[in-house]
Amino acid sequence: MNSKKSVAIDGPSGAGKSTIARRVSEEFGFIYVDTGAIYRTVGLAAALRKLDPKDKAAVVAMLPEISIRLAYGEDGLQHMYLDGEDVTSRIRTPEISLYASGVSAHPEVRAYLMEMQRSLARENDVVMDGRDIGTVVLPDAGLKIFLTASPEARARRRYSELVAKGQDVQYEDVLRDLTVRDENDSTRAAAPLKAAEDALLLDTTEMDFEESCRAVAEMIRERFCL
Ligand code: DC
Repeated sequence: MNSKKSVAIDGPSGAGKSTIARRVSEEFGFIYVDTGAIYRTVGLAAALRKLDPKDKAAVVAMLPEISIRLAYGEDGLQHMYLDGEDVTSRIRTPEISLYASGVSAHPEVRAYLMEMQRSLARENDVVMDGRDIGTVVLPDAGLKIFLTASPEARARRRYSELVAKGQDVQYEDVLRDLTVRDENDSTRAAAPLKAAEDALLLDTTEMDFEESCRAVAEMIRERFCL
């Protein structure tokens, strides 16, 4: 029996999963696991090799050749390492988002990354976010939340984040990329994005960040009697 507490947060790109999950994990002293960053690291590896992310044979052949590691830095944040190099910021570009979405459709890639995710939840109290955490990775999670918002609200947030990071992007491009990723992520055969039957739904279209965090924190307090 796993005595650790797990909160699984799934939902489409830009619903606010990572910022909300990071904040509430701090509040409760859980570690925050951003599983999208793990898929992004595989996406970056494919991009560096100039592979087509949809070319399953090429992507699968690459897996034994790369080393992916996740570690928490002195800053308390999750860092991703590809072949020993810290790629935490390099994986945050629109190009790598699409690569991540592409490689994540292959069941072999998902299987390859499964144990890394499950072992973190065996050993720690976690807030883990992704697309299939409540349905596949942690089906026994103590609390499952499906976080969503309208495509326009999500694109607006993602656009502001990228601009704040100094990236030169257009809102229309962000909305288009997000719609493509939604389509890829929810129609793929392997672990598509969908709410677990026992997930609590939270639509943040009309909520600001603080309201969303309060709603999630309340769900955690109630579920785990904290
Ligand atoms: O959460 P994110 O936007 O950083 O994720 C990048 C891509 O990785 C996303 O388009 C789909 C994929 N992904 C996945 O398939 N399963 C997860 N648990 C997390 C991310």
